[in-house]
Amino acid sequence: MDSAPTNTPPAAALTAVVVVAAGSGERLGYGMPKAKVPLGGDSILTHALRGVAAAGVARQICVAIPPGDPELRNLCETFAQELAVEGPQAPAPGVAVQLPAVTVVDGGASRADSVRAALAALQPEIEAVLVHDAARALTPEAVFHRVSRALAAGAQAVIPVIPVVDTVKTVEAAAADAPAPELVTGTAAREALRAVQTPQGFQLATLRRAHAAAATFDAGQAAAVTDDAMLVELLGVPVHAVRGASQSLKITTPLDLIIAEGLLEGPLGARWVEG
Ligand code: CTP
Ligand code: MG
Repeated sequence: MDSAPTNTPPAAALTAVVVVAAGSGERLGYGMPKAKVPLGGDSILTHALRGVAAAGVARQICVAIPPGDPELRNLCETFAQELAVEGPQAPAPGVAVQLPAVTVVDGGASRADSVRAALAALQPEIEAVLVHDAARALTPEAVFHRVSRALAAGAQAVIPVIPVVDTVKTVEAAAADAPAPELVTGTAAREALRAVQTPQGFQLATLRRAHAAAATFDAGQAAAVTDDAMLVELLGVPVHAVRGASQSLKITTPLDLIIAEGLLEGPLGARWVEG
């Protein structure tokens, strides 16, 4: 058992954080890649990168941006300069300070393609990787630490999760003459359900193996890949779960952006973390 306090970065394997920021942000509807959308005076990507740096777990931060986007490339370069000037956040006692290298790659057509592009650009000494959605821009440091600590304790794969608050049912399309468009086919046992967040942590060799297997997927299978852990599950490797946080919400719709703005401006502040 690891008895370290939850706010202490563990002395983990050499870790990279991959930040996937190459999506188009269609559901947010800003007419620009979601990573550029303003949030509390900065961009969503800037918030995400600052959160990663503040967690202090990364030797390398590798960002996947929309191919050839000069603005987002500049934004990453500005962030790297900001890091060099300010340095990483004060580390916990006994944890070595090291400025993470910042690498930028062109993402791909799908999220999995973007992850693969970033994995190909990791430094040779990297042993473990955390894959994080830029869209989860307000993820608290404690979540990075919980994931890193589980990796340091021997997990091959670990994901942050939160309990599901809604009752979840399965449905199928109803007959044309039915009174409503869908018919309920079952109700999932809610106590066993978890909503999955990022950063998702992996031993690098395991994630590389999982993504290599997925490279042969047909279009339908590829479209069904919504996170990295499911690829590792397909290998039969156990995936462990730690507690996520409600502030780690994925900014997907305009309502999510309003909530994120509220978290930044509200009396609790963005760094509030549930106990
Ligand atoms: N992502 C990526 N490359 C893609 C698609 C998605 O790097 N080809 C990233 C997004 O930038 C985001 C994360 O994966 O940080 C989760 O994806 P999502 O929330 O779906 O973002 P978008 O794809 O940008 O949004 P939408 O699906 O509404 O277009
Ligand atoms: Mg998407």
